[in-house]
Amino acid sequence: MSGRDTGNSSVRQRKGQVSDLSEDNRVVELSDTEEEQEAELVSSKPKSVQARVDNEDDYSPWVDVLRVITFLIFGSCALSYLISSGESFTWGLRHPPKYLNVDWWKAQLNGPLRLTLDELAQYDGTDDTKPLYLAINGSIYDVSSNRRTYGPGGSYHIFAGVDASRGFVTGCFGEDRTADMRGVEEMFIPLDDPEVDRLYTAAELEALKKEEREQAEQKVYETFAHWAKFFENSAKYQKVGEVKREKNWLEKEPRKKLCDTAAKGRPKRKAPEQK
Ligand code: HEM
Repeated sequence: MSGRDTGNSSVRQRKGQVSDLSEDNRVVELSDTEEEQEAELVSSKPKSVQARVDNEDDYSPWVDVLRVITFLIFGSCALSYLISSGESFTWGLRHPPKYLNVDWWKAQLNGPLRLTLDELAQYDGTDDTKPLYLAINGSIYDVSSNRRTYGPGGSYHIFAGVDASRGFVTGCFGEDRTADMRGVEEMFIPLDDPEVDRLYTAAELEALKKEEREQAEQKVYETFAHWAKFFENSAKYQKVGEVKREKNWLEKEPRKKLCDTAAKGRPKRKAPEQK
């Protein structure tokens, strides 16, 4: 027995006219309250043939097509995101995964890279088909995962494609794009000050200056080690090789003056009673 054959007169009762006369396809215009009652009645019974016919009439293959397309788009984005290590949802491949990179395969097959400074310079991010490298203390790291920072226009692009070990300590990023660390300790050595220096005996002053230099060298070491370890221990960056240099490269370099910013930051020597 269908919902309309329950004997409920208020449901069966016609307010308007029957507009479709086939047995199971009858549509009756009902008043608001009658419609509500009808809805209640239908929901509490198994689906009528009418409902099934209505559902079949509603079916459109385009819904399935839309579903498949949506699934493909989301699936593709998810796959792209996974493969690009979270870099791209769109297969843009501006930063291809490492195994799509010739250099990565070369590194796997030939062992660690060994690049001269000229070769290293080609990996400064200006060519975005190449990985992005920086070097510190002669070790080359792949920093492609952080192009925002090290790529062109990034806040630390200055470190890309070079071994700027000196700059990591002096903070003179532009001037000190070199691994020549000679004389960097000066930045931590207190300035001579005749007013203060005369408060020491000559022997005391000599011993003090020796101590100051040792402490300064220790500070350079610690500052530098901080950054060297930062890259060495970073989960974001991978060591890919070493900078290739001549054995006596440093002797051939002209000695650098301490950059102005670092020189201006030198501390003042303290008087004996302040020590
Ligand atoms: C000798 C001094 C400094 C050195 C060698 C240095 C070096 C660096 C390096 C290598 C990074 C990138 C870290 C990474 O790969 O995740 C970085 C990030 C950052 N540094 Fe410095 N830094 C110095 C001083 C400063 C100072 C003085 C400030 C603030 C005034 C600063 C602000 C920042 C900020 C905001 C970031 C994040 C940048 C970004 O993600 O785009 N740094 N720093």
